[in-house]
Amino acid sequence: MPDYKNCTITRFPEPVLSKPAQPIEKIDDAIRQLAERMKEIMVETQGVGLAGPQAGVNLQIFVASPDGTKENAKVYINPKIEPDGPMKSVEEGCLSLPGIWGKITRYTRCTVHALDLDGKPFTETAEGILARIFQHEYDHLQGMMIKDRMSIPAKLRARKKLKQLQDDYDEKNPSSQ
Ligand code: NI
Repeated sequence: MPDYKNCTITRFPEPVLSKPAQPIEKIDDAIRQLAERMKEIMVETQGVGLAGPQAGVNLQIFVASPDGTKENAKVYINPKIEPDGPMKSVEEGCLSLPGIWGKITRYTRCTVHALDLDGKPFTETAEGILARIFQHEYDHLQGMMIKDRMSIPAKLRARKKLKQLQDDYDEKNPSSQ
């Protein structure tokens, strides 16, 4: 059984963040432990959502909590989303891109079909912040982050910060260069 209890937050340019995540074949105690650890990381880092790759795990799972509390954090396994409604541009950040913010255009409504921790399928429709979280976290499972969706000027503004994150990573991982 893989041990997920010591997972930590991953940051750009950790390779797991830019790869599509794999579907979860079996929901067992390891996956339940992973979900628990992901909720903890989300709360520790003061986020409102966290996707598997952000815990260093290349699996299709995310947690979301519109108020950032562990009690209200819900788990979504192998999610599929159907965004809907008008689009809106709102400033977003990402736990894996510290210091980077940008306006991201997303749908204002979103339906998610997923499995819960007992492997039961469920459907949930959300608006506002939760609809945005679903789309943001689903992006992570496709290997996509806000830096890939920002406007050209926002990308230019983020350039220095991205370079700094890259340098920090290279320093900690000398063999990856
Ligand atoms: Ni994110």
